[in-house]
Amino acid sequence: MTPGAEAGWAALRAEARAAMSRAYAPYSGYPVGAAALVDDGRVVTGCNVENASYGLGLCAECGLVSQLQNSGGGRLTRFTCVDGDGEILVPCGRCRQLLYEFGGPDLLLETPAGILPLSEMLPQAFGPDHLTK
Ligand code: THU
Repeated sequence: MTPGAEAGWAALRAEARAAMSRAYAPYSGYPVGAAALVDDGRVVTGCNVENASYGLGLCAECGLVSQLQNSGGGRLTRFTCVDGDGEILVPCGRCRQLLYEFGGPDLLLETPAGILPLSEMLPQAFGPDHLTK
């Protein structure tokens, strides 16, 4: 990776950590923050928001895609997610599907195993194309 690209990931991680600091996770005690780069240069973020009705909790990625759509849409190109220690976290299965909708197989994810395309984190994904066949 070029130095410039690495700086880009570090900046995105900093945004994810800032979002994590705003999480509402009183039930799990597990705050999460997510940040993504949009193809027009915007950065969108999200944090998890839990609920007294436990199953209704929203993952950080839910807030992120909501902010994406509500701030003009576009395609996600890079994504990172951190836990309460600010360490890189892989998105849960449901959230990989949320990300696939707005980033597709080429969305780059920062993972503990390095930068990987979503196609490797969600192989043989079901997506919008299936509905137009
Ligand atoms: N969580 C996320 O926000 N994103 C993920 O990808 C993994 C899990 C949240 C959900 C819940 O509020 C807490 O982490 C513990 O599972």
